[in-house]
Amino acid sequence: MEDIKKAAEILINAHHAIAFTGAGISTESGIPDFRGPQGGLWKQYSPELASIDYFLQHPKEFWLFYRMRMSTLFAAKPNRAHHAVAELEKLGIIKAVITQNVDGLHQAAGSRNVIELHGTMRRAVCLACGRTYPMDVVIKKIDSGQIPPLCDECGGILKPDTVLFGEPVKDFDRARELALMSDAVLVIGSSLSVYPAAYVPIFVKEMGGKVIIINMEPTELDYIADVIIQCKAGDAMTLLLKEIKDRLGIQ
Ligand code: APR
Repeated sequence: MEDIKKAAEILINAHHAIAFTGAGISTESGIPDFRGPQGGLWKQYSPELASIDYFLQHPKEFWLFYRMRMSTLFAAKPNRAHHAVAELEKLGIIKAVITQNVDGLHQAAGSRNVIELHGTMRRAVCLACGRTYPMDVVIKKIDSGQIPPLCDECGGILKPDTVLFGEPVKDFDRARELALMSDAVLVIGSSLSVYPAAYVPIFVKEMGGKVIIINMEPTELDYIADVIIQCKAGDAMTLLLKEIKDRLGIQ
């Protein structure tokens, strides 16, 4: 509980705090993470499946793998941790969420200033002409047998608008700018093992800011953390939000 109090203190006193999230914030919504102890995706499948080379060489197999993941993703609802992050933004405690997730659950929980470094699974893009399609339209194409799904306009192959291994991340300049002006970062549910995303908490630390890490197991950047809260994101964020609201005298 001491760590919750210390984290609340840091966030209340910060002038510009941000949240940085990974797959661990969405596991309580039923979406498996990648490297966690409970059936991370890369413990069952090769990360090769999520590379741009694999997509270009085997678009059909790629989409069949993604179709399977899509059902889980589309059934998922934001959990207590997502809602707590959205409320911290409403309270002005955090200014933005930089996420590695592609599930759109932060926006679904009400977060407004969200940077999706690894893109989004909610839409697909035509590699030839750039036209975008909502993912539910693409799923209908796949389920009617059009695999890989093709662009209605030009016949080009559609690709989920997520960042695959071997592709540049999205909005990294904006994320770096936000991190460099922040004096605190609340990291939730990430192994902090993938770059350049994992630079975000490092930038905050380098500028003299404070790093709070909420994760169920040790991360690769625990050595730069000012506070480490090793428990489930839903529990930690519920306690943290309550501690902050109690200190602010808010119900
Ligand atoms: N509460 C707290 N921590 C959790 C929970 C939970 N309910 N569930 C899982 N975790 C922890 C896991 O123990 C793990 O350390 O969250 C972390 C998730 O780490 P990863 O699976 O590596 O996910 P992430 O850090 O987001 O991966 C980064 O890698 O494959 C790419 O593009 C993919 O965006 C992803 C990137």
